[in-house]
Amino acid sequence: MPTPASVRPVLDQAPATESFREAVLSGLQKTQKQIPSKFLYDARGSKLFDKICELDEYYPTRTEIGIMQRNVEAMTDAVGPQVRLVEYGSGSSLKTRILLDHLDDLASYVPVDISKEHLVESANDLAEDYPSIPIQPVCADYTTAFDLPEPSPPSTCTVGYYPGSTIGNFRRDEARAFLSQIADTVAPDGGLLIGVDLKKDVDVLKSAYDDSEGVTAAFNENLLRRMNRELDATFDLDAFEHRVRWNKERGCIESHLRSTKAQTVTVAGKRFSFEQGETIHTEESHKYTLDGFAALAGAAGFRVDRVWTDDRSYFSVQYCAVADRPV
Ligand code: AVJ
Repeated sequence: MPTPASVRPVLDQAPATESFREAVLSGLQKTQKQIPSKFLYDARGSKLFDKICELDEYYPTRTEIGIMQRNVEAMTDAVGPQVRLVEYGSGSSLKTRILLDHLDDLASYVPVDISKEHLVESANDLAEDYPSIPIQPVCADYTTAFDLPEPSPPSTCTVGYYPGSTIGNFRRDEARAFLSQIADTVAPDGGLLIGVDLKKDVDVLKSAYDDSEGVTAAFNENLLRRMNRELDATFDLDAFEHRVRWNKERGCIESHLRSTKAQTVTVAGKRFSFEQGETIHTEESHKYTLDGFAALAGAAGFRVDRVWTDDRSYFSVQYCAVADRPV
């Protein structure tokens, strides 16, 4: 399928494979072996993540979509007219469609994603359905500094969109730094529409991250496959299992890959040994209270203006305006 005219060429700032190799080699040397969760999203990982979002046990996606559908008018009012909308980690841009259906005067849409194939496919699909919205895709690791394209056409202000409670994948200090970076990007008149998952019953949380069909397990184990393929690693997929735990002190669900036996694995020519039961920590998903998130946003230079939630208060969507800045 040819690229629709409204889709600009991808501004490609894809990280080199080197960054994956370096992250893995340094992470596997730590006492608690660990790999940053952003590496879960290669092409296959992104597809598995989309499947997770359809699981009964994975409440965040469904709940967030419900909140958006019920409140989209108020949300687009908060966002304002003629803005450039920048989505951090756009994936399949499914939730974005709810906004785009009500933001017909958007100046442009800038999806940013680390997975280039997924980005291009989704941008093209979106352009079919929203031919009047200019789309400027950016392939980048949005957790590091990256460039936005020149706004085309010029827009009055920029609003960030960060759904899915992906903010939860950062530690609190990293989350603050990331939000500050967004505040710098959208200042002085812009804002951020963000999905934030809330604290709740631990069993509900645990089954959301360890579903009965094993899709989340496959998503986590895909990281071993990716190392085997891209880094000439020798992980035996049958000798590791998906494990989750609730970390009460830090308020996050931790995901791990647990070695079921003592074994040695080669990765990019280096050898790493695992004791039986030793884990690689692959992800954490932090959960917030409304007050806790307001404090975090405040520390990052935002002011929470609006909060929308569901009946059970499982999830929230919040509009944060850039706070007044010292001149
Ligand atoms: C990317 C933040 C939406 O932490 O809930 C889902 C990723 N990991 N199941 C989350 C994820 C395992 C997810 N987000």
